[in-house]
Amino acid sequence: MCGIVAYIGHQKAFDIIIKGLKRLEYRGYDSAGVALQNNSSLNLYKKKGKVADLVSFIGKKDTNGSVGIGHTRWATHGPPNDANAHPHVSGHKKFALVHNGIIENYSVLKKELIQRGHQFNSDTDTEVLIHLIEEIHTNSKRKLTLFEAVRIALSEVIGAYAIVVINKENPNELIAARKSSPLVVGIGDGEFFLASDATPMVEFTKNVVYLEDGEIAQLNLDSGLKIKTIENQEKTPYIQELEMQLEALEKGGYDHFMLKEIYEQPQSIHDSMRGRIRSSKGLVSLGGIKDYEEKIVNAKRLIFVACGTSWHAGLVGEYLFEELARIPVEVEYASEFRYRNPVINEDDVLIAISQSGETADTLAAIKLAKEKGATIVGICNVVGSSISRESHCGSYTHAGPEIGVASTKAFTAQVTVLTLMALMIGKKKGTISTQRFNRLLVDLESIPEKVESTLKLDKSVKEISNIYKDSSNALYLGRGINFPVALEGALKLKEISYIHAEGYPAAEMKHGPIALIDEEMPVFVIATKDASYEKVVSNIQEVKARKGKVIAVVTKGDREVKEIADYVIEIPSTDDLLVPLLATIPFQLLSYHIAVMRECNVDQPRNLAKSVTVE
Ligand code: F6R
Repeated sequence: MCGIVAYIGHQKAFDIIIKGLKRLEYRGYDSAGVALQNNSSLNLYKKKGKVADLVSFIGKKDTNGSVGIGHTRWATHGPPNDANAHPHVSGHKKFALVHNGIIENYSVLKKELIQRGHQFNSDTDTEVLIHLIEEIHTNSKRKLTLFEAVRIALSEVIGAYAIVVINKENPNELIAARKSSPLVVGIGDGEFFLASDATPMVEFTKNVVYLEDGEIAQLNLDSGLKIKTIENQEKTPYIQELEMQLEALEKGGYDHFMLKEIYEQPQSIHDSMRGRIRSSKGLVSLGGIKDYEEKIVNAKRLIFVACGTSWHAGLVGEYLFEELARIPVEVEYASEFRYRNPVINEDDVLIAISQSGETADTLAAIKLAKEKGATIVGICNVVGSSISRESHCGSYTHAGPEIGVASTKAFTAQVTVLTLMALMIGKKKGTISTQRFNRLLVDLESIPEKVESTLKLDKSVKEISNIYKDSSNALYLGRGINFPVALEGALKLKEISYIHAEGYPAAEMKHGPIALIDEEMPVFVIATKDASYEKVVSNIQEVKARKGKVIAVVTKGDREVKEIADYVIEIPSTDDLLVPLLATIPFQLLSYHIAVMRECNVDQPRNLAKSVTVE
């Protein structure tokens, strides 16, 4: 969702901002804009469309200045058009603001401001905020700095925000603040960067401060970085070192980030396990949850909350934890959980799964459960993200930056961490035999290599993609721990190729979806050799009896399914509990190839945002 980049220092702000906004394109947006301070004037450029459209619109216009703010907008209040694009300016045109989030009480504030003579040029909540700041700055009884005016304005605001404010008359300063939307400050040598995540600043500085909820920052070239809470308490900036590498943010020879990320999985799964597992010693240890291990072991139940692909990882986690640690698990859509007045006890452990660590619904679910006394475990990919900071403990997935909007390597990393966690808790609880535990460790360690060989199937998956690229519908079927893989396969296909797809537990097919099957319908089935193999074979027969086309993911060497399916994709054999880590790969590749063949925008599918920071 909306992306923010701002700069103040000695370099040309425009170049840094545009490059940064391009790096944030993965978040999803529909318009872009910049405001640049130069010689006491504020040059404002905004355009519906991509950052490239903004750049060509600006053409040879004045882009000088070493202070500026930039934004990519994902429309919430008002359609995507030039007027609604950010930055928005105050009535007297001295201040401009970029904003990520939603001001919930904007209409009340807007009415009051209109009564005081303010005029608005857009449909946005953001424009209301900059007018409110101007109103407070201009009409306060005592003379206020912009920093103070922003702080007071934010105390009147209900909602979520990350904002940056620029002042036409002060080239030395930017003001920024956050609540429930991310904002990172980069500290360079005589310069500051601000962005929604650290990617726009990675080549300039390794020193960053992640603003906390309810904090406001003054970035001043003379006096440095000053942070206060909205309640006016001074805070000492906590400077962290950025571990991100520039190469991780580039395509590295691949046509798309999604393909690169699919191919990174042998490494990313390995990275998720690094230092946490040693099969030769029978060891699994996740340092980040060690202090809460007892609490998890004694939990009456685990509640997984997540959205989208991360929710699918949670479903895999349900099978893992129930099987290995014998703890009852509930898997909840965060958006439903938070509004349901759920029963939560102090003995409950809530496990929040999120790639970005910024998903608004997941964050709200955490806060709710925390208030009710539950222990919160975060499984996040983005280091320093809001969910990781709101959790009592947790484990990073260490998959590296995921830029493609469709989640791939983050999913397998989440499943890997959940497997490690279930093994660690199961061992401590004594619910898993030593033999099974040791065998699973060995199998888990060999997963990266098996993912590598699964990726070698790419050519045949591409051929299958070519056959089904023009389908209007598809079904994905799986049983047991592979049911979530079917859901994930269907989600990948619909989100990037816009083909309607549904995932079902294979046996549920005859309770409805079977009516859809005809000779046009591809049915993708996970039919690996496990406890439900024979039952899945029967489900395949049911599809074939109705002339459906079956494409089955099977265990290498399978004969039975090969005889009845139209196509098979043979993946390496592994423990039943680890099959999702392999079976999901062909579906990722299939969605990718079909999307490319249908000329869809693979990395930035329509209407989608990478980081969903509004509910
Ligand atoms: C699908 C996808 C989304 C995300 C969902 C949650 O490919 O990426 O469904 O999984 O928006 O996002 P995170 O994991 O960042 O909380």
